[in-house]
Amino acid sequence: MFKKGKVKNLPRHVAIIMDGNGRWAKKRFLPRKLGHKAGAEAVRRAVEYAVEVGLECLTLYAFSSENWKRPKDEIDALMRLLLDFLHKELSNLLDKNIILKIIGDLSDFPEDLQRELADAQNQTHKNNGMTLCIALGYGGQDEILMAVNNLIDAGVKKITKESLESGLYTSELPPLDLLIRTSGEQRVSNFLLWQVAYSEFWFTSVLWPDFDKKEFEKALVDFGKRQRRYGDV
Ligand code: FPP
Repeated sequence: MFKKGKVKNLPRHVAIIMDGNGRWAKKRFLPRKLGHKAGAEAVRRAVEYAVEVGLECLTLYAFSSENWKRPKDEIDALMRLLLDFLHKELSNLLDKNIILKIIGDLSDFPEDLQRELADAQNQTHKNNGMTLCIALGYGGQDEILMAVNNLIDAGVKKITKESLESGLYTSELPPLDLLIRTSGEQRVSNFLLWQVAYSEFWFTSVLWPDFDKKEFEKALVDFGKRQRRYGDV
């Protein structure tokens, strides 16, 4: 198992599209919400592992702007799981020196959840360990449009790569090195569209609730072998 500080070519920033909770539940004749519950356990494991190996940032796609189309009881179950995660994990985030950062549009989220997310971000913002970034109500196209419109509102005449990047949610995070997607799907699904410009991709057929430290390690080992050329030869 990877140990902190001993790994060459460790990515600084890994993002994960956590897919397959529904199929995991279906295979077991369980309701989808139990798939999400098992998915929340996989989140705890992934965060623990990311801290163990020394990632600077782990970004998780927990609720997309398109996920509002899901049945209300599934959305409610996901909101409850997020609240539960905050209640159970905040002390752990503080103990492990983790900074919690939420990206996305929270305006349609339940008010109690919005309050607790803001509180958890405030309580962890003085930490200086890994950043756990959770994407909620997030859409990559919306994020780029938000950055562009903010620049237009500020009277900027010519938008540069740097000015646009400074308006993204991720402006203070390290560049995205590796994007992982579970469950065998090989799409970006409107996640971090600008940020994936030079990222490596790693796909696994493992369903998110079954994603464990060994699988995470496989992704990091594979990343370590890749030659990144950024368009050069
Ligand atoms: C995709 O699987 C998963 C989601 C839309 C939700 C992800 C949420 C969690 C992992 C749990 C809560 C998160 C945190 C941060 C505590 P799917 O439902 O689309 O699966 P399917 O494609 O098999 O139907």
